[in-house]
Amino acid sequence: TYVVTDNCIKCKNTDCVAVCPVDCFYEGPNMLVIHPFECIDCGACEPECPSHAIYVDDEVPRDMAEFIELNAELSEIWPNITESKDPLPGAAKWNGKPGKIAHLKR
Ligand code: SF4
Ligand code: F3S
Repeated sequence: TYVVTDNCIKCKNTDCVAVCPVDCFYEGPNMLVIHPFECIDCGACEPECPSHAIYVDDEVPRDMAEFIELNAELSEIWPNITESKDPLPGAAKWNGKPGKIAHLKR
């Protein structure tokens, strides 16, 4: 499965949503996640994310490993999102800031 990681937080560009053939993105207040059992591993979303926040699970950087479990957990709770929309205000300012998980809203 593919996994959304730290740099989506406070950005939420949503370009990823537009290309997913199975609509398996789920939306929280300031981040999206991928449902691990619905994702068909097509890889289309990974290059679409301008924040480079998406990785295939076995390439998730070690310091972001907790996002694998977070995607599984939160995709069961958050609503499905099937269409792109504007990024969050301030997304460009937050792009690339380390440790954004401290700002994750559930
Ligand atoms: Fe959707 Fe494909 Fe990305 Fe999985 S890898 S979330 S199926 S676009
Ligand atoms: Fe997040 Fe990138 Fe999608 S910032 S919403 S994973 S395009």
